[in-house]
Amino acid sequence: MLDDRKRIALIGFGAMARSLQASLHRSGDNFAVGAVLVPSEFAPSPSDLDGLKLFHDVSELIDWGPSLVVECASHEAVRTFVPTLLRNGIDTIIVSVGSLGDKMLLDILELAATQGRSRLTAVSGAIGGLDVLRSARNAGLRSVAYTGTKSPNAWMGTPAEDTVDLASLTESTVIFEGNAEQSARLYPKNANVTAAVALAGIGFEATGVVLIADPNVTTNRHRVQAEGAFGSFSIELQNEPLPDNPKTSWLAALSIEDAIIRHFTSIDV
Ligand SMILES: NC(=O)c1ccc[n+]([C@@H]2O[C@H](COP(=O)([O-])OP(=O)(O)OC[C@H]3O[C@@H](n4cnc5c(N)ncnc54)[C@H](O)[C@@H]3O)[C@@H](O)[C@H]2O)c1
Repeated sequence: MLDDRKRIALIGFGAMARSLQASLHRSGDNFAVGAVLVPSEFAPSPSDLDGLKLFHDVSELIDWGPSLVVECASHEAVRTFVPTLLRNGIDTIIVSVGSLGDKMLLDILELAATQGRSRLTAVSGAIGGLDVLRSARNAGLRSVAYTGTKSPNAWMGTPAEDTVDLASLTESTVIFEGNAEQSARLYPKNANVTAAVALAGIGFEATGVVLIADPNVTTNRHRVQAEGAFGSFSIELQNEPLPDNPKTSWLAALSIEDAIIRHFTSIDV
């Protein structure tokens, strides 16, 4: 029986959502998911749902009375559903953080949360060190730079293909150099991490981004470097993929679980 204060629903039921559900189950079902919202064209089969309620319409989900909704779907899903949820007083966690690169959407979400007295939380996802950036910017940050390194395969189907022969690369090669605004536009699949860094630090225009294709790496690597009045900071992550989905970092799925636990806990440490 679900604790009514922890009535959690998901938007989307792909790799992240399934990994989260399995992980919450392994941790003892203190925070169990009860429902999913997925438009009918993406609907999973009933056997996949394992007893979860399935809604196709956001108004049905609101009637179900979730205490927390977790978006694990797409930038479009944030745009379509999250303002309505927030306006209806439902706290929402989003994993598609790259959607917040759209300033107009950010303003809509802020207004909706104010109107509904609800709260939107963006997960840290595949990246780390955001707490340092947020604290440090209070005294002024001079520079923030993000470097993302992936195997050439991971950049297939991106504008990198126009300038580099990814299939025959033998050494580490820079495929993009610019700011977070440009990289989010050209490399939307990478936009979640660069958006998280930009939002925690000095914004999309001022955040430097370098993207690298390296045939010698097997994990996705993320480096964040910052300098400011506080001193300087550098962090590097080597992320393993989800066991059942090589395109998604395991850490990103784990960060959703952490955000849920922190949402319900009385002592946030
Ligand atoms: N913050 C991060 O670091 C980070 C890391 C990896 C992925 N992500 C984001 O998380 C999201 C989910 O990733 P995933 O690996 O689970 O993807 P996935 O493709 O495996 O699953 C997405 C699910 O959402 C559903 N969906 C698609 N569009 C929808 C819509 N408009 N409304 C409702 N449901 C919709 C699909 O049917 C599918 O079930 C993506 O937006 C991805 O960019 C964020």
